[in-house]
Amino acid sequence: MIRINEESKQFHLTNGTISYIFHIMKNGQPGHLYYGKALRHQDDFSHFQTYENVAPNTTHPFEGDPGFSLETVKQEFPVYGKGDYREAAVLIEGEQGQLISDFEYTSYQVEKGKSALSGLPSSYAADDQAETLRIQMIDPFSKVEVELVYTIFSDDPVIARSCRIKNSGEETVQIKRLMSLSLDLPEADYDMLHLSGAWARERHLQRKRLSPGIHQVSSQRGASSHQQNPFLALKRTTATEQTGEVMGLHFVYSGNFVAQAEVDHYDTTRLQMGIHPTRFEWNLSPEDSFQSPEVLLTYSDQGLNGLSQAAHRLIHDHLIAKRWVKKERPVLINNWEATYFDFNEQKLDKFAAEAKELGIELFVLDDGWFGKRNDDTTSLGDWFVDKEKLPNGIGALAEKVKAKGLQFGLWFEPEMISPESELIEQHPEWVVGMPDRPHTLGRNQLVLDFSNPEVVDYLFERMSSIIEETKLDYIKWDMNRNITEPFSKTGTAPGEFFHRYLLGVYELYDRLTTNYPDVLFESCAGGGGRFDLGMMYYAPQAWASDDTDAVERLKIQYGTSIAYPLSTIGSHVSAVPNHQTLRETALKFRADVAYFGTFGYELDPSQLTEEEKAEVKKQIKTYKQVQPLIQSGTFYRLSSPFDQSETAWMLWDEEKREGVVGWYKPIFYPNPKNNQTLKLRGLSESASYEVAGLNRTFYGDELMQRGLPLGIEFNGANTGSIDRGGDQQSHVYFIKEL
Ligand code: GLA
Repeated sequence: MIRINEESKQFHLTNGTISYIFHIMKNGQPGHLYYGKALRHQDDFSHFQTYENVAPNTTHPFEGDPGFSLETVKQEFPVYGKGDYREAAVLIEGEQGQLISDFEYTSYQVEKGKSALSGLPSSYAADDQAETLRIQMIDPFSKVEVELVYTIFSDDPVIARSCRIKNSGEETVQIKRLMSLSLDLPEADYDMLHLSGAWARERHLQRKRLSPGIHQVSSQRGASSHQQNPFLALKRTTATEQTGEVMGLHFVYSGNFVAQAEVDHYDTTRLQMGIHPTRFEWNLSPEDSFQSPEVLLTYSDQGLNGLSQAAHRLIHDHLIAKRWVKKERPVLINNWEATYFDFNEQKLDKFAAEAKELGIELFVLDDGWFGKRNDDTTSLGDWFVDKEKLPNGIGALAEKVKAKGLQFGLWFEPEMISPESELIEQHPEWVVGMPDRPHTLGRNQLVLDFSNPEVVDYLFERMSSIIEETKLDYIKWDMNRNITEPFSKTGTAPGEFFHRYLLGVYELYDRLTTNYPDVLFESCAGGGGRFDLGMMYYAPQAWASDDTDAVERLKIQYGTSIAYPLSTIGSHVSAVPNHQTLRETALKFRADVAYFGTFGYELDPSQLTEEEKAEVKKQIKTYKQVQPLIQSGTFYRLSSPFDQSETAWMLWDEEKREGVVGWYKPIFYPNPKNNQTLKLRGLSESASYEVAGLNRTFYGDELMQRGLPLGIEFNGANTGSIDRGGDQQSHVYFIKEL
């Protein structure tokens, strides 16, 4: 998959679907030649590097060659201070404060497969699934070395990129900026798509046309954030959901990040993604190395939906831990919105018994089971059971729950500490912030210094002991505030703090998932505040949002599906009026939305009427039919809640030739269009299909071209013949090829 023109030092990474081509330019730096749909290999691609547009008085030609200026050539790893005034991929400060670097190519290696990145989550591939190219360079003055790493996957239109810096010089240097990916595209006719939001409305799809200047999404919160997701796509302005060129960047990282597209004065686009350079200053002593996190670069010529499908496949096959990919996730019930902090053993026992009766498989005890935590002001860090609430201990409760045939799960917020806790008295030095300055509270809590290995050890010991005592099946790992006063009391350099904090989080995740591989982790950060591939490497599912309102969830889940597979999206049915919006929605509507994710309930079963209980039992059976499709099916978005009044999507399993469609209309409007149908995708034109509940069969071409009939809608006059009407209409259709 990696073809090399030795003499001209041209590297062509291709798997028949995509091509990524670059070469070593005459100044020794790597120059970009092509990225996109696969090209036939040629013995010489040098004509791909164009040198037009060089205006001699504003550019700085290399060795007097007016045709060669860093300002105009397309590059793979641009440096600062040599005549390219766009953003550099790297800034390294020497002892005199200079930021000038000049990396020259020295060698390359090709390897089968893909190796892990030390200390960091990353995609994985067996020897026959990928090939990796390493390009080595050195700055001949500072003797700082760079290794650019490219992996191409054999069956996926994806390139993984990362880099490593090594200080082979004699002076300590400081890395001030290091992009994991920098890619120069020859054009700028793109729309930039990103997923933005806030608490309770995460990952709404945003679109803007590129224009000269820098278009950026980022986080400096110490977490990837509710506000901006570490994902960005560039879509040709003519591309649609189903057609045309789109490329996407995912960052396999959960902390401060930047993702940006910079359009220059020649209408070329520089795409970059990496750790946010603000407040990042990494000291590199002689012989030390720094590993960047990884970026996954995905390409599709089948529109945004094609890009999502490729990303979903890659995340399933090469990022989520293998043991979870095909394993069906348990239908869970979480007591948070049912009880908040107000529970005891008897209440939980009854809760679990009723849940079991409904067909639920996993009972998750949320916040409030430890320390003296009766509200959110105390006890984070004191991971010892609260004997007032659970006098027989957490092990005894787990045993009772398991005796009913349920799995047992617990909520933890390992990274946090309450100002009122035993832990803070024992270890005030473990709190993030400066000793002699006030510490800003968030949700009444402070942050533990995960850059300190003692903190990680303490939590590993505490969590292991509870996992073993309860024979725990599941952990919801929460993180309810962002970092303020980023400062370690134990000597971590301030510019290294954010990254070292995250390395500590990954270390704890790594130790727990290695020692307890059967415990299913669900990540959470006040809902979806850390919904990223760094987390998914350890925790295959994530609580998508604290907002469980089904109408709001349409946008949250639709937006999330652009970058992440449905198997990662925690989606539950909650009580009404909804606790985040006070909206009332029908139980059917809530479940029809929640089916398209990892399903569960967030309510008190004893508050359900007999009729509702019967409905919940049916819902769980229905989910059992949807679930295999979530893990093995291909997802098609059919109608967007961001553009249309109806939302629709479908999952289709090409091998089993069956699928499921979800269709939703939250608000009725009078005198609607008649002959309403929903055009499906992914079927075979000439095959016949049965749609459960509709008493005739359909050809694939009919379902895709004319559409699935949605039934007659109330129009104010047709009262005798209507199939549906009113607000919150929804339908889930199961489809099978005959
Ligand atoms: C966060 C989570 C909720 C719940 C509470 C508990 O807000 O997102 O699901 O676990 O914390 O305090």
